Amino acid sequence: MYERNYDGKLGIRTAGIREWKGLAPHYSRYEATPYEGLDKLFEIYKIEDTDRVVDYGCGRGRVAFYIHNRFKIPVTGIELHEVTYDEAITNKMRYEKKIGETDIPIRFEFGYAQDYEIDPKYNIFYFFNPFAVHIFEEVVENILRSVKEHKRTVDIILFYPLPKYTRFLRRKTDFKLIEKIKVPKAEDRGDKFFIYRLSKGD
Ligand SMILES: C[S@@+](CC[C@H](N)C(=O)[O-])C[C@H]1O[C@@H](n2cnc3c(N)ncnc32)[C@H](O)[C@@H]1O
Repeated sequence: MYERNYDGKLGIRTAGIREWKGLAPHYSRYEATPYEGLDKLFEIYKIEDTDRVVDYGCGRGRVAFYIHNRFKIPVTGIELHEVTYDEAITNKMRYEKKIGETDIPIRFEFGYAQDYEIDPKYNIFYFFNPFAVHIFEEVVENILRSVKEHKRTVDIILFYPLPKYTRFLRRKTDFKLIEKIKVPKAEDRGDKFFIYRLSKGD
């Protein structure tokens, strides 16, 4: 109920699941991060006015709308599934109508997350299990390259962290696990956030 109500409050439609049709073994299905999880995450993880978020595999855009609605910061979502991407665009129109604003700083890009060129103003990178670990590794390499070229502290937020993702970050990068946040009353033990940080000085 909370899910539908929150969608209603934002004027968007993000509930439900969409599987990839045919052979797409490396790409995960669409399913949104639960609103209760996002509430808990941002109770603990503090957003600054200067923060900018990329949601890799943004689906219908729930995370972007939620963050913009609460913190008014720019969010970019990348999505590879064409129909799902179109739904994110439609949601943006609905959201703008609902809040009575235009030109809000939410952007959705259609395409492969691994090809997305990172804007150096962005410092928070969000993943809800969008794809296979070899693609995650490519994306993290892109983040590391961006940080090398434009020194800044960056965070990676994983929802439903998979051991393959966490092992890679722990063994192959200098990202440090700084926070673990559980979704209250979640039946699935995987419903939690792991937050990793690569500090400017590291
Ligand atoms: C589990 S959903 C997460 C949706 C959203 N981030 C959220 O938390 O509400 C993962 C999304 O990643 C998309 N995806 C899968 N592979 C991708 C890729 N290589 N590039 C961009 N998006 C991808 C899927 O189509 C799906 O919509």
